[in-house]
Amino acid sequence: MQSELELSILLDEDRIRRRKVAMSCGPLLMSFLLLTFIVPVAGVGLLQVDRQPKLRRAHKDSNLLLIEDAEDGKETVELLRFVTPYKTPMETVVDITPYSQLIHSLLQAPSVEFYVAIDTWVSNDTRKKLVYISNTSDSCSSVWSSQGNAWNVSLDLVQWPRTILEPIQPRATILLAESFPNPLMDIGQVKAHEGTLMGDLVTLNSGVALGPLATVYPCPSGADTLKKEALLGSYAQEAEQLVLEAKHLDANTSKNITARLEAEYLQDMVSDQMIDAKILTSKGQDLEILLSSNSSKLTKDLPVYLAPGSTVSDQPYISTVWFNMSLPFQPLGYIKEIYNDTHVLMNVTKHHCILSLNSSSLPGLQVPKDKYVIPTATKKLDMVVAVGIASGKKLREDHSNAKESLLLLNASYSDGKLSIKEKKPLGRIDSKALGRSELGETKVCVVQKNTQGHVFSRQFEPNLQVNERAILHLTITGHGWAATSESCGEYCHAIYHLHLNGQNFANVTQWRDDCYLNPGGPAQHGTWYESRNGWCPGSVEPGIYIDVTEHLDKTGRNEFSLNLTVWQNLTHRYALYTDISGFIQNDVAMLAVTANVLLYGSYAVTAVLTAPQAFSKAEAALRDGCSDPEKLKPPKVVHFLSDDFASSDEARKENEEQVIDTCPPSQVPFDFETRAPWYFYNHSKEILPGKPSGAKYLPVIDSRLVQINTRTVTGQVDSLKFQGDWQQLALRFRLMNPEFLEMDRWDRVGSVGVMIPKTLQNVQIRTSETSPTPSSSKYWRMST
Ligand SMILES: *[C@@H]1O[C@H](CO)[C@@H](O)[C@H](O)[C@H]1NC(C)=O
Ligand SMILES: *[C@@H]1O[C@H](CO)[C@@H](O)[C@H](O)[C@H]1NC(C)=O
Ligand SMILES: *[C@@H]1O[C@H](CO)[C@@H](O)[C@H](O)[C@H]1NC(C)=O
Ligand SMILES: *[C@@H]1O[C@H](CO)[C@@H](O)[C@H](O)[C@H]1NC(C)=O
Ligand SMILES: *[C@@H]1O[C@H](CO)[C@@H](O)[C@H](O)[C@H]1NC(C)=O
Ligand SMILES: *[C@@H]1O[C@H](CO)[C@@H](O)[C@H](O)[C@H]1NC(C)=O
Ligand SMILES: *[C@@H]1O[C@H](CO)[C@@H](O)[C@H](O)[C@H]1NC(C)=O
Ligand SMILES: *[C@@H]1O[C@H](CO)[C@@H](O)[C@H](O)[C@H]1NC(C)=O
Ligand SMILES: *[C@@H]1O[C@H](CO)[C@@H](O)[C@H](O)[C@H]1NC(C)=O
Ligand SMILES: *[C@@H]1O[C@H](CO)[C@@H](O)[C@H](O)[C@H]1NC(C)=O
Ligand SMILES: *[C@@H]1O[C@H](CO)[C@@H](O)[C@H](O)[C@H]1NC(C)=O
Ligand SMILES: *[C@@H]1O[C@H](CO)[C@@H](O)[C@H](O)[C@H]1NC(C)=O
Repeated sequence: MQSELELSILLDEDRIRRRKVAMSCGPLLMSFLLLTFIVPVAGVGLLQVDRQPKLRRAHKDSNLLLIEDAEDGKETVELLRFVTPYKTPMETVVDITPYSQLIHSLLQAPSVEFYVAIDTWVSNDTRKKLVYISNTSDSCSSVWSSQGNAWNVSLDLVQWPRTILEPIQPRATILLAESFPNPLMDIGQVKAHEGTLMGDLVTLNSGVALGPLATVYPCPSGADTLKKEALLGSYAQEAEQLVLEAKHLDANTSKNITARLEAEYLQDMVSDQMIDAKILTSKGQDLEILLSSNSSKLTKDLPVYLAPGSTVSDQPYISTVWFNMSLPFQPLGYIKEIYNDTHVLMNVTKHHCILSLNSSSLPGLQVPKDKYVIPTATKKLDMVVAVGIASGKKLREDHSNAKESLLLLNASYSDGKLSIKEKKPLGRIDSKALGRSELGETKVCVVQKNTQGHVFSRQFEPNLQVNERAILHLTITGHGWAATSESCGEYCHAIYHLHLNGQNFANVTQWRDDCYLNPGGPAQHGTWYESRNGWCPGSVEPGIYIDVTEHLDKTGRNEFSLNLTVWQNLTHRYALYTDISGFIQNDVAMLAVTANVLLYGSYAVTAVLTAPQAFSKAEAALRDGCSDPEKLKPPKVVHFLSDDFASSDEARKENEEQVIDTCPPSQVPFDFETRAPWYFYNHSKEILPGKPSGAKYLPVIDSRLVQINTRTVTGQVDSLKFQGDWQQLALRFRLMNPEFLEMDRWDRVGSVGVMIPKTLQNVQIRTSETSPTPSSSKYWRMST
């Protein structure tokens, strides 16, 4: 039995993006319905579940985040990754004893500066008025939606006093890679570069590094048009997949698929040919409307639509979860009378309750530019879908499967007849060419697929002595909105293949299937229960610790490299990753990666081995080789935990009934892992860790507002306030309700860390890529 759903989420005023969620046992099945998604908020109105520009923008702009704030010559070192909960507070205590040596070496300066960065886009007023149409009474009401306003952030350092036991702290720290709040790492990006072709010589508009997979396409109208052709191709591919997925084919199958894809995509296809309009007054059962730009091509009987995102109603997101989402793309009524180029009268055929709204609450409307817009787009879409259906039938006959590829479909008219043709590549890039002076004759686009593969490499020299151990600390969370291939990085099953000096020593998965067990989940809204790649909404992500001693050249130079494979729904196996869908739909799959190596001296190693147990993740790695051994065993075949289950009453019950072990606050050493994987505390209900045993809570950041203009807040601690020495070190990190404002409604990635100068005792900083970067050029040779 398969069920599938698809939703698109209101992004901002005029942009709708699509989130595809397909659930099926076999290959991927996608179906499309145009929806906007809203959640109610007590008192205020509605929460608009909005996957704001989020990481994509962060990616582009995130240099702004810290780099601007950072003083010259300082770098940031992340101590803890987290993702904010949907509009609920969070209080955590997490071990950072493995960074003791780093912090010690910073105490030589008069003060130490810490940061908290959250990739948030909210500010004091994010409200928007919407029309809610009741799903039971078809009555209209005006409601506010809001994204929330801010986080109220506090950070303390917790130091346990030194005991007679040998502290288990590294003697040196090697910082290999870090990408949040620095720009995240793109994975599998596909890009189109414009240029011209003459003979076999391609001259690009600007220099780029191309690989042998780069494909040359005719591209007379530029790369944006090529993307539109790829978008048409993706509709056909979807139809093809629906045919492959259909239980049986009958006369109705094609009709059904065509109707589904029309419902899903027609609105997108016409969006740049619609004129915005607003309601001026109602005249009996009709509405007088004003167009935002004049059009002399208006005709009677033209359909009038509700503007995307202006009107919502309750709709099922998955079988068990409903959200307020935007209405399907259907006419609200039709033009009845044209007064002039900007003013028309329309009748109302649907949602008559619109007529009863007062003038300050009316929804926005849209009118097609002329009477051809809708029929032409419908015809084009139907023909594209027919191409896909035909190839799906063929594949079905041949008993073969589809695979994700870039299909370019060109729609053209001749003699008033529309035809759809596949655009074939002219050739592939072969090698670099010498410079050219003449301009080429044919405009081309070179499509470069960055198939990953290799993500990054870093070199370091541990200088490890006998009986010492090296522990790799790796934290990876996947981000990017869900229009990427395999909905990567947020929802894809990625495997990180770790190598030292070319030898693959571990494969790591960071997938979390336990988001539905988040004790802070039920208080959230949105999709907090959905499993994700390396995080849950409202979680801290302390990463994984792996003992790499045996894989190192202990005294020489080592190269650490990380390669990636991603589970492919279509082919049902892991493969190198190419983000074709992200290219087409303007989304980017990204990873936030922090990788450090911690060198433990022989006293610490002896101490950890003679202790009765491990008290932290790092200690577990020192004792047993890895803090989370199950994460080193990625499943051979991925079984998706269905959202239907994760959001079910049964799952909720499991969440409520789970017993979370606790460590007495006075215990020394303090066992941080008892509250794994959530590390939550509630200071109003319990004694904080270490308080009874003399642990010192040093305030670092106290109740600071984090909003769009203050995404990074910093706090300095006077070095003299630190105890000279400590047994264990932790962060107490709190996200609280901002006074007079509302908490951010979104699951934003964030980071807590410390600023360091470029040189530090016993700290190696190697954050630049060590593998050779391919050289770029404007001139390339093509082979056919
Ligand atoms: C936002 O609201 C907070 C709390 O009321 C206030 O302190 C702050 O100055 C406001 N910021 C702006 C930019 O208006
Ligand atoms: C096809 O759809 C029509 C209604 O649209 C229905 O009457 C007919 O039974 C369907 N045929 C099959 C084979 O399902
Ligand atoms: C297509 O078929 C499915 C399954 O039979 C049905 O649930 C759906 O409503 C149909 N869609 C359309 C647009 O006819
Ligand atoms: C329509 O718009 C054009 C330019 O956009 C303007 O020159 C013209 O005067 C407008 N006509 C009316 C009737 O507003
Ligand atoms: C509205 O106008 C359309 C197009 O002229 C017409 O088909 C429809 O019957 C009208 N409906 C109402 C309720 O007036
Ligand atoms: C109306 O929406 C609610 C969710 O808000 C849902 O539980 C209910 O089943 C819906 N009713 C109808 C008739 O669609
Ligand atoms: C949609 O919004 C309305 C109005 O605020 C609310 O009554 C209803 O419960 C909401 N439905 C869902 C599914 O959140
Ligand atoms: C268009 O018609 C409306 C309604 O009759 C009128 O109020 C408006 O002034 C007219 N606009 C122009 C540019 O003639
Ligand atoms: C990592 O992947 C790249 C392909 O992107 C491959 O060439 C390389 O050999 C891989 N590295 C290792 C160490 O396997
Ligand atoms: C892959 O398939 C699983 C179910 O088999 C589904 O839950 C998941 O959303 C799919 N992923 C994508 C990107 O469609
Ligand atoms: C990692 O995965 C690759 C590909 O599946 C496999 O060949 C290799 O043995 C694995 N390495 C380890 C250390 O498990
Ligand atoms: C942050 O939350 C604390 C605790 O609720 C409160 O005392 C403080 O005023 C808040 N600060 C801001 C800036 O909202």
